[in-house]
Amino acid sequence: MTKYYSVAIDGPSGAGKSTLAKMCAEKLGFLYVDTGAIYRSVGLAVKNAGLASSDDAAVAKLLKSIKISMNYDTDGLQRMFLNGLDVTDEIRRPEISIYASDVSAIPEVRSFLLEMQRNLALENNIIMDGRDIGTVVLPYADVKIFLTADATERARRRYDELLLRGISANYDEVLKDIEYRDRNDSGRAVAPLRPAEGAIILDTTGNSLFESFDIICKIIRENIPI
Ligand code: DC
Repeated sequence: MTKYYSVAIDGPSGAGKSTLAKMCAEKLGFLYVDTGAIYRSVGLAVKNAGLASSDDAAVAKLLKSIKISMNYDTDGLQRMFLNGLDVTDEIRRPEISIYASDVSAIPEVRSFLLEMQRNLALENNIIMDGRDIGTVVLPYADVKIFLTADATERARRRYDELLLRGISANYDEVLKDIEYRDRNDSGRAVAPLRPAEGAIILDTTGNSLFESFDIICKIIRENIPI
């Protein structure tokens, strides 16, 4: 049987997980899976249905009628589909971040998405990023990294990223959003954000993107025979 390798990268919003995980996946020829995009798609479904993200029962009921799927385009970009519609760009809107963070605290949402995430690791060498990859989704991952940075630096990076994508943003609001999601994602009862057992903790405050990239590639190479 083919052995597939998995790398779990967890950490708070704006720590640079997606950018770095994507760069490392490209370099190593692994599949990159952004699990935040999957939660964002559920958040968008909840918003489109006009539901409050705090209404656990209504959200759990909605899950029975929605279909979340994903594929990769020719550039290797992960595209997300909600009921067959491409929502890849729409889920990046700042208000969807809050919906995603809120619905991700609902146990039914987490179990609804668990199998989809685990199945991806059965047939691919993958780098998966999120909040509970090393603790819940892939506890047997070959490499577990917990990526973090100061909240103000994370807000600055997220703000720059939004502007680069042509989405208008306000720094103070981005910081408020980051602090709200830190509390939400770390404080929830199910699968809270925390370093997995055996995770290597990497604080990227003050690092350039390429410094962090080199460190992560080195950690992966030291632990996986590639
Ligand atoms: O990584 P992101 O900012 O796109 O994620 C959006 C939200 O989804 C985040 O605030 C918490 C939630 N999430 C989660 O609970 N578990 C994951 N594995 C990934 C994301």
